[in-house]
Amino acid sequence: MIQSILIATGFITITGLTLALLLVLAERRILNYGECEISINNGEKELTVQGGATLLASLAENDIFIPSACGGRGSCAYCKLRVLAGGGVISPVEEPYLSNEERKNGVRLSCQVKVRNDLQIEIPKELFSVCRFSGIIEYKKPLTYDIIELRIRLKQPESIDFVAGQYIQLESAEYKGRESVMRAYSIASVPADNRSIDLNIRLVPDGICTTWVFEVLKEGQAVHFTGPYGEFRLSDTDAPIICIAGGSGMAPIWSIIRDMKDRKIERETTYFFGARSQADLFYLEELRQLEKVLPWFTFIPALSAEPENSDWKGERGLITDVVSRHFPDCSRHEAYLCGSPGMIDACVAVLTKAGMPEDKILYDKFT
Ligand code: FES
Repeated sequence: MIQSILIATGFITITGLTLALLLVLAERRILNYGECEISINNGEKELTVQGGATLLASLAENDIFIPSACGGRGSCAYCKLRVLAGGGVISPVEEPYLSNEERKNGVRLSCQVKVRNDLQIEIPKELFSVCRFSGIIEYKKPLTYDIIELRIRLKQPESIDFVAGQYIQLESAEYKGRESVMRAYSIASVPADNRSIDLNIRLVPDGICTTWVFEVLKEGQAVHFTGPYGEFRLSDTDAPIICIAGGSGMAPIWSIIRDMKDRKIERETTYFFGARSQADLFYLEELRQLEKVLPWFTFIPALSAEPENSDWKGERGLITDVVSRHFPDCSRHEAYLCGSPGMIDACVAVLTKAGMPEDKILYDKFT
């Protein structure tokens, strides 16, 4: 009896695998989509591509780099764009990432749309200026026990134009049987230094890209990235500013504040940085120094799990409580938040409760 069940199970498994293989072969060899036209932004750009690849890959082959932090696996939702015609039906992978409004407007995950026929799509204009860069690791230095600063000296192109607050996508190389992936990191350096970029990278346990950066990547090694991406940036108003960051969420705020100094923007700015203990703090001396030279700038680090008997004389407690204590009324302010989704959601709740309109809160969630 058991033997018959095993034989039947084996038969079903082999049949299933054979059918799956045949489907893949059919997709690759029998179905020939031929050449397809992709019309972008109402004919502003026209591409002719070989059908069969994803829209994300087809655009990248033509040097149009759509953000894609998960490397096309359908799990980051960074690669959204509008498909106005020819995109076929929404796949089950896309379902959870698309709101009703987005569906109505033809928004799709470009990594899940296959180019099978002519397409009409719409992408933000600024993505036309995103490039693929190659550079050399100038240095890799520890900032804390799990965050490093990486400086990439640009080789080709030799300089980058970006706005403080934007991010790039670093390509990891294949190593120890792990595939190459792309991961998003905010630029920590300032636009005025356009021959190199600095990144603050936190080690994610078992993360493919961060493990590669920490364990494999060496100074002097060549690297590649695409960018710049993102809308997180200083607004063009005079409102006083509250910045809140945690961990490697420091990077875009660090860039924005020093860029304000470079551009002589003197808006009253208070920067709250949340960490667990003193071991998680970095750029402390540099930020204290900025406080001394910039009368409009205040830096408030706050520790949530520092031992009570330590020599720490600064703020203690959750960053949200510390912000509330300093700013019971935020109705005049704008906020710039950068950190984990949990931290950002908690900060948005506290700031709106203190009177800040939601459209005055800009954030960059690190997932
Ligand atoms: S690239 Fe991540 S969801 Fe498409």
